[in-house]
Amino acid sequence: METDRIKWNQRFGVADAYQGGHPSPFLEREIERILRLVPGKRALDLACGEGRNSIFLARHGFRVTGLDISDVGIARGERQARAEGLEIDFRRQDLEGWHIGEEYDLIVNFNFLLRPLIPEEVGALAPGGLLLFDTILESPQLLATHNPDFFLRHGELVRIFGAFEGEVLFSEEISEGDMPTARVLFRKAG
Ligand SMILES: C[S@@+](CC[C@H](N)C(=O)[O-])C[C@H]1O[C@@H](n2cnc3c(N)ncnc32)[C@H](O)[C@@H]1O
Repeated sequence: METDRIKWNQRFGVADAYQGGHPSPFLEREIERILRLVPGKRALDLACGEGRNSIFLARHGFRVTGLDISDVGIARGERQARAEGLEIDFRRQDLEGWHIGEEYDLIVNFNFLLRPLIPEEVGALAPGGLLLFDTILESPQLLATHNPDFFLRHGELVRIFGAFEGEVLFSEEISEGDMPTARVLFRKAG
């Protein structure tokens, strides 16, 4: 949506790095297991923002496509990738109503919740492919001021991914702190 593009361009336009320069701690923590299990090197970073996770994956030898609605976020990712001599296929893309037309060995979805895209993500995984999903979990504080549809419900991720053919290799929900989070690492059946 155009309003999302404008909102995110403004956020990325003012901060040095909106999510910080480092990759997601979950991705960093899981990278050894990912490298051991992943069936190939094609990776997709959905709503990649400034590309911190795309860049981290490219450093680990993945051929990464990073998609985001924000051209400001994408431009920052491209700049950083160039500075490191990494080739990443960053593209501006509105993911609402979009269909994933290619197959990937690894898909990452961080801090972005678009429920109708989840079955598409699993569908786009190669056999044995891995998917990391990590985003904000509902909490009394958040629900007091925001639309509940923006947050994962307790138990929702495991229920969703448990219904697909494959295995939830890791899951956790962290309710404490400023940013309650739910995450899973899913492997599609081979
Ligand atoms: C909280 S940021 C997360 C960025 C990145 N995944 C990370 O963890 O660093 C949310 C991202 O979702 C993107 N976004 C919001 N709506 C979108 C849409 N409809 N299509 C594609 N990207 C969208 C924003 O531009 C923003 O980069």
